[in-house]
Amino acid sequence: MSMKLPRDFYKPLAIGAPAPPHELPVRLERMIHFIPPHIEKVRAKVPDVIDQVDVVLGNLEDAIPVDAKEAARRGFIQLAHDNNFESTGLWTRINALNSPWVLDDILQIVEQVGYKLDVIMLPKVEGPWDIYYLDQLLAQLEARFGLRKPILIHAILETAQGVNNVEAIATASPRMHGMSLGPADLAASRAMKTTRVGGGHPEYKVLADMTGDDAPRPAFQQDLWHYTLARMVDACAAAGIKAFYGPFGDFADADACEAQFRNAFLLGCVGAWTLHPSQVDIAKRVFSPDPAEVAFAHKIITAMPDGSGAVMIDGKMQDDATWKQAKVVVDLARLVAAKDPEMANRYGM
Ligand code: GLV
Ligand code: MG
Repeated sequence: MSMKLPRDFYKPLAIGAPAPPHELPVRLERMIHFIPPHIEKVRAKVPDVIDQVDVVLGNLEDAIPVDAKEAARRGFIQLAHDNNFESTGLWTRINALNSPWVLDDILQIVEQVGYKLDVIMLPKVEGPWDIYYLDQLLAQLEARFGLRKPILIHAILETAQGVNNVEAIATASPRMHGMSLGPADLAASRAMKTTRVGGGHPEYKVLADMTGDDAPRPAFQQDLWHYTLARMVDACAAAGIKAFYGPFGDFADADACEAQFRNAFLLGCVGAWTLHPSQVDIAKRVFSPDPAEVAFAHKIITAMPDGSGAVMIDGKMQDDATWKQAKVVVDLARLVAAKDPEMANRYGM
């Protein structure tokens, strides 16, 4: 396959558009909090939500009724206008590229509030061609409306074809921010026999061996999502972008939600979606940097103030590379601490 020249990869795709970023901005994104922007009561609560979450996402796609699509878009533009987001991210999930709403979603939002928008989440991404399209269009619109900061793209991995093309999607553009697993659409796309939104399934299990007696055989439930999540994490990590677990639909089951989030965290995800306020604290608990790790990172930075050379700390070698890792951890902890006095206390900040 022929490829774009490396030196062209970071060039703006339209004359006058801002250059795409070489590195992702350091941002706290433990939860991407979904809100339905067509509901006025929801918009009124946005100032409080901004204080509680790391990313506010105005959802325009699935879960928004067809007769409320325009109202959701208008509502999003209004809430983006009306609020100051400070360090909290402002994202939107636009409709799918084959839908009748998406062109106006992109045109109107970028024109009116593009200067405030951090990330566009693109659903049902099938391959890199979907990213190329949005990438080019965003560059044209950024040039037309004089935007200085490029809007990033976040893909939802939620079709069988998307999973087949996951590496190509991750590396399709320097605008790629990351990817989320979308277990509901993915289950439908694959004809998986589940009607849940994420989480386990009691019938997906292996049985212990037969023993010949009548004792019930132990059964061990397996994780339906492990294969896809691990593939997605590898694709994202290799491309230097962020991996997220998506939605967990059973709001009443906080324990299962926490288990799903924690599995994702342990595998390498940096955050998850929160669809209900009760899930925000779960995401904070799971995805905040560990206080012991923050303390150790602090030690590294204190011992190597300018980040060069090599030192031993608690018997472990530290050099430029671990200093950079330590900096990421401490920077993240600072972002958490600025938002969350309780965590600030635990980090000693
Ligand atoms: C999310 O969009 C999903 O389909 O799970
Ligand atoms: Mg979906």
